[in-house]
Amino acid sequence: MSEDSSVLPLVVLISGNGSNLQAIIDEIQRAALSVKIELVISNRADAYGLKRARQANIDTAVLDHRDYPDRKKFDRALAELIDQFDRPLVVMAGFMRILSDEFVNRYHGRLINIHPSLLPKYRGLNTHQRVLAAGDKHHGASVHFVTPDLDAGPVILQGRVDVLAGDTEDSLRRRVHEMEHLIYPRVVRWFANHQVQLEGDSVLIAGLPITEDKRIFELTPNEPGNAG
Ligand code: GAR
Repeated sequence: MSEDSSVLPLVVLISGNGSNLQAIIDEIQRAALSVKIELVISNRADAYGLKRARQANIDTAVLDHRDYPDRKKFDRALAELIDQFDRPLVVMAGFMRILSDEFVNRYHGRLINIHPSLLPKYRGLNTHQRVLAAGDKHHGASVHFVTPDLDAGPVILQGRVDVLAGDTEDSLRRRVHEMEHLIYPRVVRWFANHQVQLEGDSVLIAGLPITEDKRIFELTPNEPGNAG
């Protein structure tokens, strides 16, 4: 598959469980995604996502940030690993590191992240807890281009879930995760089909600026992954 020049190379960055990585692997295995994950890189040797990658015969690398004197040096080592491949899409899937501006700018337009909130709400950590404390009616996840400002890059696609009476942090996290597993492979497919571009601060889908209403994705009974 890698010899086929129409297959988009991917490098996936993880720090933990890797369920979003798994969602992308599952889509590739269903032959629903024309991409090849060239390498999965974790900054933690114990990340469960590394096991998932190995089980799918994907190469892995561990780059422990504690082995580097500062952020810039770690990021340069990371870039060296990524740059072995031909302009891959760099997919952050639960990669819990803040990246230097130098790194982010190097991958301008081909570095994406998934964040567990409806950005611009709830940048940073503990999003589920903060949504519950605020009494919000909706929560969700956002796939966005990464720019130097943390969790503030242009949004490509968001998945919205309702906050239900009796929801706990765990129940909410589970539902947001399910939504993440739908929207992240979908965005990766758009990249594989050359349908998504970053132009200035605007996201273009199939050449047209994406509008607020179009970037929200909600489960309907026909969507795969919906229990109904
Ligand atoms: C996901 O919920 C993702 O949105 C979040 O980490 C989780 C990783 O899960 N990312 C961030 O919070 C980044 N700011 P996974 O390892 O099972 O894919």
